[in-house]
Amino acid sequence: MRRSYGESGLSEVEAASDPIVQFSIWLKEAAANPIVVEANAMVLSTIDSSGPSSRTVLLKDVTQAGFSFFTNYQSNKGQAIAFNPRVSLLFPWYAMERQIIIRGRATKLSREESDDYFATRPWGSQIGAWASEQSHDLESREHLQNRFDEFAALYPEGSSVPTPPHWGGYLVTPSSVEFWQGRYSRLHDRLIYTTSPDGWHLSRLHP
Ligand SMILES: Cc1cc2nc3c(=O)[nH]c(=O)nc-3n(C[C@H](O)[C@H](O)[C@H](O)COP(=O)(O)O)c2cc1C
Repeated sequence: MRRSYGESGLSEVEAASDPIVQFSIWLKEAAANPIVVEANAMVLSTIDSSGPSSRTVLLKDVTQAGFSFFTNYQSNKGQAIAFNPRVSLLFPWYAMERQIIIRGRATKLSREESDDYFATRPWGSQIGAWASEQSHDLESREHLQNRFDEFAALYPEGSSVPTPPHWGGYLVTPSSVEFWQGRYSRLHDRLIYTTSPDGWHLSRLHP
């Protein structure tokens, strides 16, 4: 499993002064790289009363306001965010010897923003969002299929499917963003941006 990492690093001189700009550069490179699968997949970690938990979600947008994704508000992650809005997002681009870790605070997107995105989803995904009581016990696959069929009959293909009230987006407003680039002899580059009263502060961490 041991492998050596590359020569090309990430220096303070070449890093953008704004982490969202630097993130967008790396996301574009990952998305253009054929050996990176699902470049916009990120591991969301949350904390609830029983401890931490992690799962993958898809980044749907990144702006100066932060990073957004969509899910079921009554899922385990939705309940954890209600308990503690502090979360982390991790992009594992192993094929490029890169990792980005974001820490921040999650807040719900507005109903209009969630409606706008929901309307762009394929009909099957829209019905699936109604049918799935995400993270809750499911007695059988058949039960899920029956729920799907019921909602499909209620909102037939071609009709306008409303956004389920329990479904929508979150925006993660970052407080720190760390860029990791693998380097030779385990002398990896780790540049971390943290928020300060004067804006973003860039510093380097021991690998
Ligand atoms: C590649 C990938 C992408 C996923 N994207 C999402 C997503 O955008 N939203 C979502 O709710 N679940 C997504 N999932 C499923 C979650 O990982 C998870 O199983 C689900 O959200 C329930 O998590 P929870 O019980 O911790 O709330 C994705 C899974 C994978 C493997």
